[in-house]
Amino acid sequence: MVSVRERVEAEPYWFHRIDLGNGVVTAGWSDPQREKLPYFGLADDLTGLRVLDIGCAEGFFSFEAERRGAAEVVSIDFDPECIKRFGICADVLGSKVTHPQVGGVYDLDPATMGTFDLVMFFGLLYHLRHPLLAIEKVAAMTSGTLLMHSWTMEMRGHPDVPLARFRPDGVLSGPPNARIHDPTVYWEPNAACMKDMLSHVGMVNIERLEDSMKATTRETMIRWLRPRAHAFWNSSAGFRAQALVQAPGIAP
Ligand SMILES: C[S@@+](CC[C@H](N)C(=O)[O-])C[C@H]1O[C@@H](n2cnc3c(N)ncnc32)[C@H](O)[C@@H]1O
Repeated sequence: MVSVRERVEAEPYWFHRIDLGNGVVTAGWSDPQREKLPYFGLADDLTGLRVLDIGCAEGFFSFEAERRGAAEVVSIDFDPECIKRFGICADVLGSKVTHPQVGGVYDLDPATMGTFDLVMFFGLLYHLRHPLLAIEKVAAMTSGTLLMHSWTMEMRGHPDVPLARFRPDGVLSGPPNARIHDPTVYWEPNAACMKDMLSHVGMVNIERLEDSMKATTRETMIRWLRPRAHAFWNSSAGFRAQALVQAPGIAP
């Protein structure tokens, strides 16, 4: 019989580092427990909620929503390999409420998937060629709260002007010690742009979340220096926003 460790190690690539218990941890280069979860605005108690995780990768946030009491978590990613690895994790963790499925953000439709009390839209905006269309689709799925987080680009002297940098040739990405060219980064919005796009599609009570880059003294120092040393610099920003008409999430 194939052990959990063998199943996990047989996969050539992992994005999320996920602790599967009994000493098995997926070899992802993104450690969401440490780098993301404290800053992405997830409430401690999600009891009974219907949750949507868009661009779920291997499901770290879906499993966290389940752990916090969500009644149902629908998780979509357009990459079938991600959904396969999600399935391995769900199996090992004994997940009862996550439903991973292959799906693209532009195909989101409340008529087929219902609506959600909580929508998590993390780390995907900048990978999209049509970000405003995507946010419109995401907003249509949200009957309660939307959490959105993105890689950003800021410009010296213009923090309040909504701007986005087009990246026709992609960017360097991946772990710091093994950078690779990622052609799937198209847009780097600034935080003001993210906020205005949320407002443009009808979301209300838009709040900026605590910035993950403020996590350490070193990062605070970098943030202080960047606007002085550079015209443009990359950062990240997260927002919590509400649907105008609050209603319980309903399955189709
Ligand atoms: C940077 S990862 C973010 C994963 C996770 N949400 C997080 O924040 O840790 C982006 C994910 O979005 C997926 N993705 C990219 N474009 C997509 C699209 N058009 N529709 C759905 N998923 C997409 C990728 O396959 C990848 O798993």
